[in-house]
Amino acid sequence: MTKLKSQINVKGTNFQENKNKLEVDLKLTREAVDFAMNGGGHKLNERHQKRGKMLPRHRVSKLLDPGSSFLEIGLTASYNMYDNACPSGGIITGVGQIHGIDVMVICNDSTVKGGTYYPITVKKHLRAQEVALENKLPCIYLVDSGGANLPNQDEVFADREHFGRIFFNQANMSSKSIPQIAVVMGSCTAGGAYVPAMSDETIIVKNQGTIFLAGPPLVKAATGELTNAENLGGGEVHTKISGVADYLADNDEHALAIARQCVKNLNIKKKNENLSNFELPLYDPQELLGIVPADNKTSYDVKEIIMRIFDGSEFDEFKHNFGKTLVTGFAKLKGQTCGVIANNGVLFSDSALKGTHFISLCSQRKIPLIFLQNITGFMVGENAEHGGIAKNGAKLVNAVATSKVPKITLLIGGSFGAGNYGMCGRAFAPRFLWTWPCSRISVMGGEQAASVLAQLKKNNTLKNNGEWNKKIEDKFKQPILEQFNNQSHPLYASARMWDDGIIDPTKTRDILAASIKVTMNHSIEETKFGIFRM
Ligand code: COA
Repeated sequence: MTKLKSQINVKGTNFQENKNKLEVDLKLTREAVDFAMNGGGHKLNERHQKRGKMLPRHRVSKLLDPGSSFLEIGLTASYNMYDNACPSGGIITGVGQIHGIDVMVICNDSTVKGGTYYPITVKKHLRAQEVALENKLPCIYLVDSGGANLPNQDEVFADREHFGRIFFNQANMSSKSIPQIAVVMGSCTAGGAYVPAMSDETIIVKNQGTIFLAGPPLVKAATGELTNAENLGGGEVHTKISGVADYLADNDEHALAIARQCVKNLNIKKKNENLSNFELPLYDPQELLGIVPADNKTSYDVKEIIMRIFDGSEFDEFKHNFGKTLVTGFAKLKGQTCGVIANNGVLFSDSALKGTHFISLCSQRKIPLIFLQNITGFMVGENAEHGGIAKNGAKLVNAVATSKVPKITLLIGGSFGAGNYGMCGRAFAPRFLWTWPCSRISVMGGEQAASVLAQLKKNNTLKNNGEWNKKIEDKFKQPILEQFNNQSHPLYASARMWDDGIIDPTKTRDILAASIKVTMNHSIEETKFGIFRM
């Protein structure tokens, strides 16, 4: 394979300036991560532990193989939403290993409003199930939740992608032999009761876990019957009388040990992985912090990033001299072959055609694709339109949409307009979508949006004989610029689960390699492309 050679002076002032800029966003991300990791905060964490319960993150680590990695999804979900009442969306999700088998863990955090489901909690839970379904991962639900967050009931209950979808997914995954295992470690009230009830196997903790369709106060109101939580739906009731649960555990630790035992008995063959025989990149991953220009209008060679992520800094480029604003080629990530598609400028017709060609190669050869996204969009103007940019861009979008190879997207810079689609944005179902803290995502850049709207406003104002000058225009533009600046930030995007998480650029190699490895749990289907407009 061809070794890439860096042209960047890592001791230069540009490099340092770039790094300083990126570190501002990295610091903001770290603050958001610290906030998420702290769950419901000190007081509620303490109350939780005093009840003899393990904190949610402790539960997850006890469930997983000691020292194994956890590919967490949606860590900063809901940051700066709901007055910050719902850290990490009140639920922990991610891929970990039990007895070396990849599993999806979905763990309620009852220190966050009783583990109830805000709209973002539902979205995060459904996203985790989607990852499990696409990659054939057994699901382990660590349940401790009061069900729907009642003040938000209009956004969590009735629609297609609301609470009910969780159970629909459980039934359908079970029907596809994707195991569903629930560990009831607290309350499972109302709709929440269906998580354990819909699982293939269910464990419940004695004197702590409860499952019922209506709690004691509601039962009293409905039928007049007087009861308590344990008699109504505690561990003894469900393992001895109702059969809603299968295993009675003495405490959290015991329950998690039983869950591990259930996974051992799934009869899933561990993959014979040999991910140790590979070369590291030739360059220090720390250098990834200084490559992306501080000024996002300055261009740079994306191969400087590629050579700092892939094995041995090796990259066999496809069509090097054609459609140069899109770099395509083959590389290895911890020994796993992948196709890389990376932006190196605006997408023209030739770059879109090159991307389409490369996706069809990888699809036929069943090679997973990694998209490195830094795109302002497709080229505009008479020349581009006459050259058929719309139909050529559509070919790329078509190939991205229909290729059946696993796709993983990383936003390393801008993600604007239809460029987001051609480069496998969220709507194109990449198996994982990660972002760097310096990325920005919106329908178009703030300056462009403010100019478009200002132009329209000016036209209408002048038509009505109104006044328009630079001062008025600047004043008009200011709030639009502020809105776009705020909404295009990755913390805003990640809070809303438009991606799977913001990652530290220096960890890119490990996260992409882990993502590819997870996708390999599932054999790759044949691709059948749609009609390409010629
Ligand atoms: N919707 C909205 N908020 C809820 C809630 C719900 N379903 N259930 C609990 N909360 C809130 C509480 O009001 C409290 O808020 P606060 O901290 O601002 O005062 C917080 O979550 C913690 O509740 P608390 O009762 O102190 O915690 P707990 O650990 O002792 O008990 C539950 C947790 C879930 C067992 C208990 O709160 C409960 O039974 N809730 C009602 C569950 C229910 O009926 N759900 C119906 C779903 S359809």
